[in-house]
Amino acid sequence: MLGWEFKETTPKQAIRINAVNVKGFNLIERLEGLGFRLEKVPFLKNGYWITAQKFSAGATIEYLLGYYSIQEAAAQIPATLFTDLKEKTVLDACAAPGGKTTQLADLMENTGAIIALDVKRRRLNALANQLERCKIKNTIVYPLDARQASKLGLKFDRILLDVPCSGNFATDKQWFKQRTIADVERNAKLQREILAETAKILADDGELVYATCSLEPEENEFNIDWAVKNLKLKVAEVKCHGEEAPTKIFGKQLDNSIKYCRRIWPGETQGFFVCKLTKG
Ligand SMILES: C[S@@+](CC[C@H](N)C(=O)[O-])C[C@H]1O[C@@H](n2cnc3c(N)ncnc32)[C@H](O)[C@@H]1O
Repeated sequence: MLGWEFKETTPKQAIRINAVNVKGFNLIERLEGLGFRLEKVPFLKNGYWITAQKFSAGATIEYLLGYYSIQEAAAQIPATLFTDLKEKTVLDACAAPGGKTTQLADLMENTGAIIALDVKRRRLNALANQLERCKIKNTIVYPLDARQASKLGLKFDRILLDVPCSGNFATDKQWFKQRTIADVERNAKLQREILAETAKILADDGELVYATCSLEPEENEFNIDWAVKNLKLKVAEVKCHGEEAPTKIFGKQLDNSIKYCRRIWPGETQGFFVCKLTKG
């Protein structure tokens, strides 16, 4: 008998406060006054789970004014893993629809510069709308395949690779019926190509965060192992907002060449994989 249990899970909806836009008033009290019940996500500074609501979180004036974004709790983790972001030059290589771009801009307090890329032009419209709604001032958007990112002719202090992936069953109820091993292999190859290209434009003292919402080792640990062996990168310790990542959410640290990679198992959040890489 297996020592673990397979459970259906539906992640709770979460919001992230855009702290730069919320000054001089208490947004949480204001949202609670509208009938939302909010629970602080313990490992995030600005993340709250919605535990009760009278109407959609996307239908408030506060949302339209960019005071908060709707962003699942695990999806809020990757941007918090960078040690510092203010005044940095940041590449968000697979950026649309922009949940993490607006989070990066908020953590940067709109300083420095973000270059946000996506290969799908249509999805960049959604990204541009998010940037406008959240009053982001430090981001430039380009339609570009991340596998050609060196064409930008820039080096980056921070690179976020929230790569296209096979997803997971917690957010896609048809996952087991529809996904094939060929999808996983195709995505894993694309992810390695994006890793290889962006490693070339990481500054010598830079940090690269790799994230997927896939639970497949081919798209996660195997790719990181490949990057360590082939791209002269090493895996750095994962700290969330500079604090020790809680094992309950972030899984156990593995003691091997992919030490410090973290799996976030579906449960309190959706499934995610995160890893921070620096030059070896
Ligand atoms: C997981 S989603 C990114 C979500 C986004 N970071 C956010 O937080 O809202 C992956 C994105 O990668 C884009 N993509 C796929 N292939 C790409 C490529 N070769 N170069 C750049 N972007 C790519 C997809 O269009 C998709 O928007």
